[in-house]
Amino acid sequence: MTFDYNARLNRLRALLIDGVSAIALVPGANMRYFTGLSLHLMQRPTIALITADSFAMIIPQLEASKLDQRPDLNARAFVWSDSEGYQGAFEAAVDGLGLRGGILGVDGMTMRVTEWLTFQRIDPTMGVRGVERGLIAIRAIKSPYEVDAMRRAIAVSERALERLLLEIKVGVTEREIASRLSVLMKEEGGHGEAFSPAVQFGANSALPHGSVGDRRLERGQLIIIDFGAVVDGYPADITRTFCLGEAPADLQRMFNTVLSANIAAKAAVRPGVPMGDVDKAARDLISAAGYGAYFIHRTGHGLGLDIHEPIPQIAAGVTDILQTGMTFTIEPGIYLPGVGGVRIEDDVVVTADSVEVLTQFPRELIIPA
Ligand code: CO
Ligand code: CO
Repeated sequence: MTFDYNARLNRLRALLIDGVSAIALVPGANMRYFTGLSLHLMQRPTIALITADSFAMIIPQLEASKLDQRPDLNARAFVWSDSEGYQGAFEAAVDGLGLRGGILGVDGMTMRVTEWLTFQRIDPTMGVRGVERGLIAIRAIKSPYEVDAMRRAIAVSERALERLLLEIKVGVTEREIASRLSVLMKEEGGHGEAFSPAVQFGANSALPHGSVGDRRLERGQLIIIDFGAVVDGYPADITRTFCLGEAPADLQRMFNTVLSANIAAKAAVRPGVPMGDVDKAARDLISAAGYGAYFIHRTGHGLGLDIHEPIPQIAAGVTDILQTGMTFTIEPGIYLPGVGGVRIEDDVVVTADSVEVLTQFPRELIIPA
């Protein structure tokens, strides 16, 4: 199934306000979302330009055939070759679209200085404005197709994890488990992975952004596995925490606290609720159990074409309102330095009146040793 990209481009045109005469997108999730074009941000500048009445692409010759396959976009192509360079194509686009003296709306998080300087060389009077909030706000409300792609990515990921658990034994290394998980996701039908799986044993699990190394697993240690496959462009983002064999009482208590926080946060999700309230539901529970100082990150982040999308932001004090169709993670954690960490991450979608938890994998601490 494909999307109606012209409908998406028309929604993007709502950002052509307050003097912004064109939106410029570089390759990445925004370009993919609004145009369906999968191009790479590389040394050859490639830009989609959306004005009130046209869609244009500044595109290197070796990528131009991708436009030929997309007659639905009706693109005006400003093609440049390696021998002639890109400045001429930029200039033709600026003049052809009437952009001189206008304001260019850009995604300030992805457009590079080099693209902007080229526009500036052609027309020093051109202005620039960051419209990334507007772009991501449109992307934040997912269509049923997008949610379904995430469901399939989650199913692949969960089948892979189920098989992986049979291979977790005393003496395996973090690296071995991480690379096995990559292979299993592929075997189960993943088109790629959202990020390299994070596998952390023992004290290393207390570092939320710690690295995967050659530590060998011992009985009674915590194991954090954070991973996700990509299917049809959409990712899963799942974390489970395990313990090989019997867990010491203090680790079991940490785990039970995080699980209660995960459940409480999910229960707080419904349309109309401030995002910060979902964070608070998790944080209050963890604080009440005495671990407040060890929950050192937000409760969750938006999930879509990008693994971390800024809307919604499930963090303390955020007053923006959850809306039907938003997809995000719920991932409270406790990290005790020198001891270990526990994180339980689920993916959810806001439904018409509450929440659907997309991740199904059991949340149980013990793996038999
Ligand atoms: Co994750
Ligand atoms: Co996450």
